Amino acid sequence: MNKETYLTEYPKHESMRENVKKDKNRLHFHMMPPTGWMNDPNGLCEFQGVNHIYFQYTPFLAGWGTKLWGHYTTKDWIHYKEEEPFLYPDEEWDRDGVYSGSAYTCEDGIHYFYTGNVKLWDKDYDYIMNGREQNTIHVFSPDGKNIAYKKLVMTNDDYPVNMSKHVRDPKIYKKDGRYYMIQGGRDAESYGCALLFCSDDLEHWKWYDTVRTAKPFGYMWECPDLFEIDGQQIMTCCPQGVDQKGYDYQNVYQCGYFPVEFDLKNKSYSFGKFQEFDKGFDIYATQTFADEAGRRILIGWMGIPDADYDNDATVAYDWIHALTMPRELEWKDGKILQHPLKEMKDLRKNAFTCELEAFTKWAPADCCFELRLDVEEAKNLELKLREDVTISWKDGLFTLSMGESGRGRKQRFAKVEELSDITIFSDTSAIEIFINNGETVLTTRVYSEHLEQKVELVSREVKGSVHGYELGSF
Ligand code: FRU
Repeated sequence: MNKETYLTEYPKHESMRENVKKDKNRLHFHMMPPTGWMNDPNGLCEFQGVNHIYFQYTPFLAGWGTKLWGHYTTKDWIHYKEEEPFLYPDEEWDRDGVYSGSAYTCEDGIHYFYTGNVKLWDKDYDYIMNGREQNTIHVFSPDGKNIAYKKLVMTNDDYPVNMSKHVRDPKIYKKDGRYYMIQGGRDAESYGCALLFCSDDLEHWKWYDTVRTAKPFGYMWECPDLFEIDGQQIMTCCPQGVDQKGYDYQNVYQCGYFPVEFDLKNKSYSFGKFQEFDKGFDIYATQTFADEAGRRILIGWMGIPDADYDNDATVAYDWIHALTMPRELEWKDGKILQHPLKEMKDLRKNAFTCELEAFTKWAPADCCFELRLDVEEAKNLELKLREDVTISWKDGLFTLSMGESGRGRKQRFAKVEELSDITIFSDTSAIEIFINNGETVLTTRVYSEHLEQKVELVSREVKGSVHGYELGSF
């Protein structure tokens, strides 16, 4: 779909918008598609005081279709502006979708790299080994809105021969004056890996090396990212094909990070243990960027591909999926901590506070609230966030349980030895839970029949305090 076709379809968009407005599950403080489908966050960056959040987008279909890049901007993470879609599949080399990619800011503008997806329909083609072109495309924009040029920089022939045709999702990492690009991949043996390319000018790219763990870790790595935080190198990715092990890898696909040491000059790479970003049901395709204040900010898709539950409650209202709240990352004691951006505090209203022992019920409007529990002592803890969404902690295990409103999502677990604090952000149809200063996070969508609900403390063997706020909307 090129821009002209988009504009002719636009009237349809208006009636879809009206339908979206009717949905009580429409989110108040999470980014969701104006209409249609949203998946991965793309091209995250801050340029001249404006944060750009692009995303995988099919505006006219609340289902899987040909992707554009939708676009929001914000200066303060509280007021958002919907911009016109930024990238359209309008070339031969991205005709079946402007897939995921990233942004790299310079003084005079923003460079973007993304995957142009082309499906090869020949019946003899195999979807994995030769059924697609995965083109790497470079776009330059002086302002994040207008495109100065769009160029094809690599295609299937530029990737190593031992790869399948699953190579995608470029992200730039600059080290010692050189540009590196990391892309996710699946090799011919179905071994998940990341490809590194290098360039001295952002225009000319060549394959540099392929990195993988010593033992196979899934068959495909999507959406990789490579960055440094407080002196630690981190590689994130979304491995597909990793089996569940105890309370790890409970979702169909995974999303997390390896602390790594990549000595790019000498091509020596070591991987630390993979850690999941989130133990909830709905997290995938996270991307990070450093804002102009130097904060490392992460946003994820609050959804997952090939979900094994019924996630289409909003489809009747012409939209589906959303993004997580932006989270600031901190590297501490060998782990990434995730903190909701401090700007979220500006959404607070109607504060209440009390001793945990005295807390019984609270009924924030539309289920939109922030609630912090500081726990001094607890043998066990059980809190209902809504009538059939409960969180509990006992014997070193944190559990999120959902009834009907989970639509097939029932329980998720996280090991939490000691409990010191829990902060819950609840939106109409999304819940994000941060435990122990953001060491453990659980994110999930939830679809309640009505939003006149109460938060209720069930267990009584606890000591500490509660601070709650109703939250306003964007
Ligand atoms: C991850 C992903 C990416 C791809 C995009 C397509 O969710 O599959 O690998 O670029 O979504 O929408």
